[in-house]
Amino acid sequence: MGKLHIVGGGAIGSLIAASAQKNGVPYECYPRDRKTMPTYAHWLDGQTITLKPATPSPCLLTQSDVLIFPLKVYQLNAALLQWLPHLTQKPTVILLHNGMGGHEVAKDLLGGDYPLLLATTSHGALKVSTSSGGFHVKYTGVGATQIGAPNLDKPISQTLSALSKEAPQLANAIATLDKTLPPVQYQRNILKALWTKLSINAVINPLTAIYNIQNKFIVNSEFEQSRNAICNEFTQVANAYGLDFDAQTVHENVLSVANATGENYSSMHQDVAHGRQTEIDAINGYIVDMAMKKGIPVPENTLLVKRVKALSV
Ligand code: PAF
Repeated sequence: MGKLHIVGGGAIGSLIAASAQKNGVPYECYPRDRKTMPTYAHWLDGQTITLKPATPSPCLLTQSDVLIFPLKVYQLNAALLQWLPHLTQKPTVILLHNGMGGHEVAKDLLGGDYPLLLATTSHGALKVSTSSGGFHVKYTGVGATQIGAPNLDKPISQTLSALSKEAPQLANAIATLDKTLPPVQYQRNILKALWTKLSINAVINPLTAIYNIQNKFIVNSEFEQSRNAICNEFTQVANAYGLDFDAQTVHENVLSVANATGENYSSMHQDVAHGRQTEIDAINGYIVDMAMKKGIPVPENTLLVKRVKALSV
């Protein structure tokens, strides 16, 4: 098994590092700012896991290594550029973020045939500052990670064991991530899985951020019109790109995630509350960009992008 190299010291990156520590997976962590890297993690069972110190700079990786970027899409270009000289042996790269656009960034910098995996996770983690000025990470909810290989021309493998014949390097990287932070579910059609997550984020994130509410409140009737409009626009755009969605199922799925994560404040809510840049461009902004290319009007998504941007300046 190769070593897992984790770029970034955000909540999910630190959760992965802590989980690697817990499960005996060899790893290195490369946060942008070593001062804000969590030093320990609080696990759901009350356990405290001490993280190993961060590694100061990238190093040459071998093909069996796995390099994961649990970063925001807008941080990806700079991070990949920094790593590019160290990827000559083509270790597997995994992108793990909310929203869309990472695949395009990776394609530009790494090329369309690079051993790449795209992933989305529903594990919950919170990075917390301590009174002494340090940071720790709190595992707030067990979820699952969906992962797939967008650069395989036409992946025929339905299962991970079938993928290990078609693309053993990618199958091994998925196994490494599954050993680190299970469960990891292989998705033959990862783009559909990512668009599904996009539909959820496109409704929950801007509404919770704009109205300063927990996820559960977006199911209220006062948001019905907006929810319907977002889901209808999303479905038209997704269909225009050959992805099979229907608006009613999209809407029902959004409601069920909002209920299941009801007590949470969404990541966009937290970004606005902490004065950080939001992921609006990679979520509703992505829907707007993709709609424009096909000449589809998406007034609700366009309005939400404007309103969230007005909040976060
Ligand atoms: O971005 C988030 O907060 C999460 O993806 C989700 C699913 C909306 C739950 O809070």
